[in-house]
Parts: sequence; C-alpha cells; structure tokens
Amino acid sequence: MIKKRPATDHQKKFGQYFSGEKVGSLLVSLLPEDAEITSVVDPMAGVGDLLSAAGRRAAPGADFLGVEVDEPVARECARRLPGCRIEHADAFSCGSLLTENGWDLVIANPPYVRYQLQPKDYRLSVRSNLCAQLERLPYLEAADKAMFLRLAGGYSGLSDLAVPSWILCAALVRTGGYLAIVVPDTWLSREYAKPVQYLLAKSFDVLTVVKDVGTSWFDNALVRTCLLVARRRATAPLENLAAKETRCVDLGAETMGAASLVGSLEYGASAGPGALGKILSSRLELSGPGFTASTQKTLDLFPYMLSGRTAEKWAASEDGGSVRPDGGRPVELLAVLADEREISFLTLEALGVHCGQGLRTGANEFFYLTIGAEHHGGCEVRGKPWHNDGSPFTVPGRNLVRTLQNRAEADGLVVSYDSLKTALLLIESEARQADLERCSSVVAGEYHPLGKALSDYVASAERYRNAGGKAFREYSAVAPNEKKDGEGYVRFWYMLPPLSRRHLPTMCVNRVNGAGASCLYVPQSAQRPVAVDANFVTLWGDAPEHEAACFALLNSTWSKCYLECLCTVMGGGALKVEASHIRRLQFPKYSPGQLERLAACGRDMIAAKTMTDSLQSEIDDAVFKPFRAPGRILEQMKALFSRHLSERGAKT
Ligand SMILES: C[S@@+](CC[C@H](N)C(=O)[O-])C[C@H]1O[C@@H](n2cnc3c(N)ncnc32)[C@H](O)[C@@H]1O
Repeated sequence: MIKKRPATDHQKKFGQYFSGEKVGSLLVSLLPEDAEITSVVDPMAGVGDLLSAAGRRAAPGADFLGVEVDEPVARECARRLPGCRIEHADAFSCGSLLTENGWDLVIANPPYVRYQLQPKDYRLSVRSNLCAQLERLPYLEAADKAMFLRLAGGYSGLSDLAVPSWILCAALVRTGGYLAIVVPDTWLSREYAKPVQYLLAKSFDVLTVVKDVGTSWFDNALVRTCLLVARRRATAPLENLAAKETRCVDLGAETMGAASLVGSLEYGASAGPGALGKILSSRLELSGPGFTASTQKTLDLFPYMLSGRTAEKWAASEDGGSVRPDGGRPVELLAVLADEREISFLTLEALGVHCGQGLRTGANEFFYLTIGAEHHGGCEVRGKPWHNDGSPFTVPGRNLVRTLQNRAEADGLVVSYDSLKTALLLIESEARQADLERCSSVVAGEYHPLGKALSDYVASAERYRNAGGKAFREYSAVAPNEKKDGEGYVRFWYMLPPLSRRHLPTMCVNRVNGAGASCLYVPQSAQRPVAVDANFVTLWGDAPEHEAACFALLNSTWSKCYLECLCTVMGGGALKVEASHIRRLQFPKYSPGQLERLAACGRDMIAAKTMTDSLQSEIDDAVFKPFRAPGRILEQMKALFSRHLSERGAKT
C-alpha cells in the first residue's frame, strides 16, 4: 500500500492541493484541437499551475486572470506568472470574474473542503455571494439564470466547498467556451454532487473524462482524480440529450513518464501525448497496457443524478420525466446488461432487508473492554492502562455485549461469539451511588447502584485526560449521552443510548476492503447478542428467510462487482463501502422459488462458515438465474470485477 503524506490543517482549510505541471498539461491537452482560446480564467488559482499550462495552448495575446483567496499563495502566483492578472480575492465576491460574454476557458481545480471544516457563517456567505455573482452575469438568459440560481440556492448545506465552486466556474463559461476541471472520482457518486452533474448534463457537452485509476497523480490525494473537459452549449431538456456521448479514458500508474502523466502510454504506433490524442479521437472501446477507453452516453455517467428526493429542489419541471424511480445502475454495468432490458430490478430494501451503520461509541477507549476468562457471576475484562495499569477486573455479564470490531475476528464468513475478544460496556439501569442521588425523580427507582468494579472504572475514566487534555465525558460524541431535566440527571455520560437493530445486526460488510467486499453473518440470540462496530455497514431483515437470501446475494459475484463499480477507492487502493452504496445495490427481480433457492444457498454458507468454489458457483447460479443469458453476464461481471481489483492493486 502506498503511504500518502497527510495534508496540513492550512491545506485542508483552503483545499490547497495544487495541480502541478503534469496534471495541468494533461488537462489542457484534452481540449479539442480547434478550440479557440483568447481568454482564460482560474477562479481559485493557487500558484497558477493550470493557468501556466493553459498559457501554452491559448492564442497569442490572450487575456489571463487568476483569483486566489490566500494572500501568500496569490503573491507567489503573481510572481510565477508575470503575464497574467492575478488578484488576491474571494472568487465568490470578485467582480473581475464577471465579463460581458463569459470566458473562452474556465480552468479549475476547485477547493475540496468538507463542510465540517467550513465555519457555518462562511458557508452561508458562500451561498449568498454565489447567488449575487450569478445575478450580475449579463450574458445568462433568463431561464439559465433561474436554473443557476435554483442550483445555487438548492445544493445541500452539507456539500463540499467544491460544489458552489463548480457552479461558479460553470456559470463563467461563455456559450461555445470550455470548462476544464480537476475533480475527485467521488463526484460521480456523492449525493451532494448531483446538482453539478445536472448542470453539466443540461448546459454542457461533456467531451472527455480521464480518470487516474492508479491514484498516482497526486502525492497526498485520498481519492482518485478525474479530469473533465466540457463545452458550454444552450441549455436543453434532458430528454433531448439521450444521444450525447462522452469519451472516457482510465489511466493506470504505468502510463506515467518522467515529464508527462502519459509519457509511457502506447497505442498503435504512437507513444506519449500522441497516443492519448489517438485514443481520444477514436469512438471505439480500446484497451492496452495501463489504459482502457470507451465512449459512453453522457447521461449514463450520472445514473443517480435525478434519483432520491433532493432533485426536487433544483431540477427543472421539464426534466420530471427523466427522474429514475429505481435509482439507476452504475454506468459500467449498462453495457453488460444491454441485452437484458426486459429485466426489472429491486433493492435489498424491497427484499425486506435494511441497512445502516454499526455502533459508534464515541470513546472506544472507555466503552470497549478486552474479554478474559468467564466465571461464575461475571467475566474478567481489561481496560486500557489508565485504569489500574490495565490489570484485569471482574464485571457482571449483564454489563457486557460481545462486539465485532475487526474483520479478522470473524471465523471465515460467520462471526463466532466465543472467538470475540472485545466487549462493549453497557450500563443501562445502573448508576454510581453518588450519581443516584443526583437523579431526577423521573428515573428515581429505575436505577440500581452500580457495582464497585465498574464504579471504580468510571471514576478512573473521569480522572483520565487524553493527549489533548480532554476527559471522555467532554468528547463530542459522548457528551450527548448525558441528559438532565429541571430536577437532575436522567442519564449519565457512561450510559450509551439503547442499542438498536443496526447495532445488533444479522449481517455486516466491512467499510474498508483490501480485497473484494464480502458479507459476514452474525448469529444473534437474546442470550448471546453480538454488537457490530462502526467499521462495518450492518444489515438486518424482516424475516430469517430474507436474511439468508441476502447473505447469499451479498456474497455473489454480482454484488462484489457492483460494489466495485459503485464505491469509492481510497488513496491506498482500499474500497470504501458505505450504507448508502448497499442501499443502492440492485438485483434482478426473483420469483418466490428463486428466492427460496437463494435462502437455501445462504443457509448452506452459514453451515459451511466459509466460501468454497462450489458454494460460489451455486450462489452465482442462483443470483444470475433471472437473466436471459446468465452465463455470459456472469463471465462479464467476473472480468469487470478482476479489472477493478487489479486497478486498485487488490488481490484478484
Ligand atoms: C485545489 S487548489 C487548486 C489551485 C490551482 N487551481 C491548481 O490547480 O493548482 C484550490 C485553491 O483555491 C483557493 N481558494 C479556496 N477558496 C477560495 C475562494 N473562495 N476564492 C478563491 N480561491 C480560493 C485555495 O487557497 C487553493 O489555492
């Protein structure tokens, strides 16, 4: 696994990941040969890497403007690019960005700043300043202005700063001009990026998307990067855009050369940028060492754009017919399923299976104990060194819930209660003697005195301070455990909220996967409950039959490949699976008999505890059954799955 350098706080606050010369050159090389560029702007210019690359492509005497909010960075940019106007300003309020007709080329790598890192006041001012900028653009037609304003007013408050930045950049392009932009791979799947996808689909021809599938272009990037080039055209209803196409190229690390990201790319008789030019100008599906290329329907690039409820806020009424009630499927699967149009699909939810996130205690150091010997009247456990130097102590069994914290603790594909080494400390109807006296009358009589061993443990925890000087009860995720009414305490900080099904699930999937994602079975009973940590997405069903079928479905080649297409690949090559991805998984609709067979496969797997080749083919046989050509689709899914695994450096 490649170790990436962590970003500094300053970098994170401003989203300062400069593109560098090579990314800049590759992005500019994606512009069509006949593009006439007489004006260029980078509204978030950094030290000017993209402007400098654009300088080599623009017409002589072209007008260049760079805007940068961080003063020392703006100064450095001005020093490096003496021929460009560089302004130290906030792009969301900089008047120089507004021109009579818009810019020929808006080139940008917007600041990717998570909403948690943006102060609330700043987030609010970005939205209102963006709207004010849009209002002042003289060339936007009334309908376009209304659309841009709807998007600016309607994007989620939990969006990354990149979303308003994209909207601004897109609005600055003149009709016929180009938007050339560096974006993380996740922009295709993030809920909050939907308004941007919509804008691109409605008002641009998305010409090219080039993806860094080797995650090798940026030193400290956490996700893969894409380069996108789009040409502004008149806005149109989505239903008129079905024929629009985009050339998509995936580049692996092996295509990089010393001077260029495509220095070692070879295609036909050409090498380097020349080879890329040929690959881009073809419409064919191509592949070679380190690259694959295909031409996709542009709307298929954004299969989730109009799914879910959020679209109602900003989509135009003319696009109501394009809303996809079934949520859409990943673009890579569309080609595989092209001959299976009559098949209908359903989600796990429709099969009676729900999913969520495992248990987040807020302070694992306090709430997780290591289990030792079990004996009459209790269980021996160890805490961390801050309590009695980590010596064992005995607590009642009722205060412990065995917990799956890591994938390695499972025995094959089934979690074994007896092998779990971590226990969750659950204090539900007890409080320390001194605390009982501080309780409100609402709970008086409900709580019993907590035993000595645990009272001592809580007391040690209250004396302990972490490296930042904080007590556990002050941790942001622990503080809400404490509840008071006018009379006194109703709950104390050491009491977790009641556990729910998502904490005591029957199945779970690792959130970070080195190899392909697989689903674990978690046997549950009232006497031997098992909690599952937030390192997992958790699942539970309305009936055991549904759960057994789901266990088979989630361990099929179909699901493994689907999740590779859907989920985010992190910088080191691991696949990050979220509950939202599992909710989006779709399966062909099964008959009652087919579902029974799937459930039987699930039960066989629970009995075998591990996956064997014969079980895998049995499951795949049952999962692909509804298709007209199940064998062909299975083979294509297998090939796609291993391509994804090898691209992210996982074992195939
Ligand atoms: C991802 S960097 C990219 C810089 C440059 N375009 C490049 O590709 O190297 C984003 C830049 O936007 C700047 N920035 C952040 N917020 C900004 C704002 N509101 N207005 C202008 N620049 C901003 C950051 O300081 C940072 O230099």
